[in-house]
Amino acid sequence: MNGVISRIAGPAVIGKGITGAKMYDIVRVGELGLLGEIIRLDGDTAFIQVYEDTSGLFVGEPIQNTGLPLMAELGPGLLATTYDGIQRPLEMIRAKEGDFISRGVFVDPLAKDKKWHFKPTAKVGDLLSGGDVMGETQEGAFIHRIMMPPTLKGTVSQIVKEGDYTIDQVVCKLQEGTELTMIQKWPVRSRRPYARKLDPNELFITGQRIFDAMFPVALGGNASIPGPFGSGKTVVQQTLAKYSSADIIIYIGCGERGNEMADVLHEFPALTDPKTGRPLMERTVLVANTSNMPVAAREASIYTGITLAEYYRDMGYNVALMADSTSRWAEAMREISSRLEEMPGEEGYPTYLGTRLAAFYERAGRIICLGKDSRNGSVTIVGAVSPPGGDFSEPVTQSTLRIVGTFWALDASLANRRHFPAINWGKSYSLYQEHLHTWYEKNVSPDFGNVVQQMMAILQKESELQEVVQLVGPDALQDNERLVIEAGKMIREDFLQQNAYSEVDGYCPMEKQYGILKAITHFYQKAQELLKVGGTIDIVLESPLLETIGRLKDVMMKDWSKTLESLLKEVKAWNLQPVTTSR
Ligand SMILES: Nc1ncnc2c1ncn2[C@@H]1O[C@H](COP(=O)(O)OP(=O)(O)O)[C@@H](O)[C@H]1O
Ligand SMILES: [Mg+2]
Repeated sequence: MNGVISRIAGPAVIGKGITGAKMYDIVRVGELGLLGEIIRLDGDTAFIQVYEDTSGLFVGEPIQNTGLPLMAELGPGLLATTYDGIQRPLEMIRAKEGDFISRGVFVDPLAKDKKWHFKPTAKVGDLLSGGDVMGETQEGAFIHRIMMPPTLKGTVSQIVKEGDYTIDQVVCKLQEGTELTMIQKWPVRSRRPYARKLDPNELFITGQRIFDAMFPVALGGNASIPGPFGSGKTVVQQTLAKYSSADIIIYIGCGERGNEMADVLHEFPALTDPKTGRPLMERTVLVANTSNMPVAAREASIYTGITLAEYYRDMGYNVALMADSTSRWAEAMREISSRLEEMPGEEGYPTYLGTRLAAFYERAGRIICLGKDSRNGSVTIVGAVSPPGGDFSEPVTQSTLRIVGTFWALDASLANRRHFPAINWGKSYSLYQEHLHTWYEKNVSPDFGNVVQQMMAILQKESELQEVVQLVGPDALQDNERLVIEAGKMIREDFLQQNAYSEVDGYCPMEKQYGILKAITHFYQKAQELLKVGGTIDIVLESPLLETIGRLKDVMMKDWSKTLESLLKEVKAWNLQPVTTSR
């Protein structure tokens, strides 16, 4: 069963004599008992990725097989915690060990001494199967449902009374003899089962105009946000964490530069939840790997994170998972693969890169949970990609492009012009739009799709005209063409640009998104009419309405419908005499 180290190559170790091992078994490597995972088997030779620094290991030291895969520990107490890639709680370790984690040390992911108030919801004699709720406890603002593990089934023979228990105490016994506590474990590389997948026909509301109106993600969908350094990936992910319609956030900081990750560890806990004014961490689990942590733990962090997300989904919550950045994850795969001397694919990435990315993004979904009470839950995934030099033709961006439903392409030149969010509307796309028609009709307005179409058409026409201007200068344009350019500018500046840091405009409700678009399109139509009856573009450009529309994004919701109504009236009343506005 147990073997010895026969070779050490950075984070990879080759072991001999390990009989009876399975793929993905967790092993203890060397005298220090470093945690590792078998990632390839060839007879009794095992290829192991080690989650901890392997320096000081020697050939001939023992390898012990635990016979178990890498598991996440799931139960109350996950929220507000920061873990590393293999679910070691960083704060608890720091308290115990200081800044450096001693190797081979194991710290429980969930505090074993803390008591939770458990309220049973099942009774003796109940037949429970996977996902059925046996009790609940309050975890911060959330009801944490204590569920039957997905693969178990049995009749309750004993269940404790309402009261305070630690997560280690047995709260329920089954006739078959199984004893259940408030924790369950799940192998992170397997997706947690559910009853049924639902269509992606509800919007994952972000409050960001360019996303919700132009390139939406469905609740339970997946999106990718590729962009060069400094183009706004992290800001977008944090904005979504703050404002999106998810209950719970799983934020995976995956091996970005050490200091950048330190920023996340520093910044994230300082963010407040705009809905409650409470710290955003209270509904967040942070999984953090800096680039100076071993690459294997970085490789695992994606799986640990998505398993935590699925667990809260299974309770009936909408969960958003942000991974920043999946490129660092892919680089970890590449490094381990090359240490194992596997046949490299494009740019040295393993040939299974695409398969792994797909398997990750496919764990998103809106589902009917396991369990009798037919709860719904969802996991929405937003993965950042950081292509070297911002070159989208590289393998990670290309593989991701083939998988995700929404692609938000960040653009360095927009970021340089301070057009934020720097999403290039020519290169971005969403495949969810067609599934969301009915949602928009019901929840925003029957003509929302129409108004968005008009906006897209104007943007398209504007960019064609801009090319003409580049070639022959603005004087070559007719007045109605110059109007298109003005309308395009309004859309870009008054609608698409949105300051993530603005108190009022950081989040824009759908009602307001629709209203701004209506104001712009009404203005545009009215201006077209005026040009037809003898108006000139100069008169149009002098209209004070332009400034009023430009200020719409900063109007507070309590004043919104009044403001919009009076603006639309003014547009309607606009004629060739210059108008005066009250604002
Ligand atoms: N939506 C936004 N609103 C305002 N400023 C932004 C926005 N997005 C990005 N920025 C600016 O761009 C900078 C870099 O963004 P960041 O997300 O750190 O880039 P990346 O993660 O892609 O390297 C931010 O510090 C901020 O000043
Ligand atoms: Mg970043």
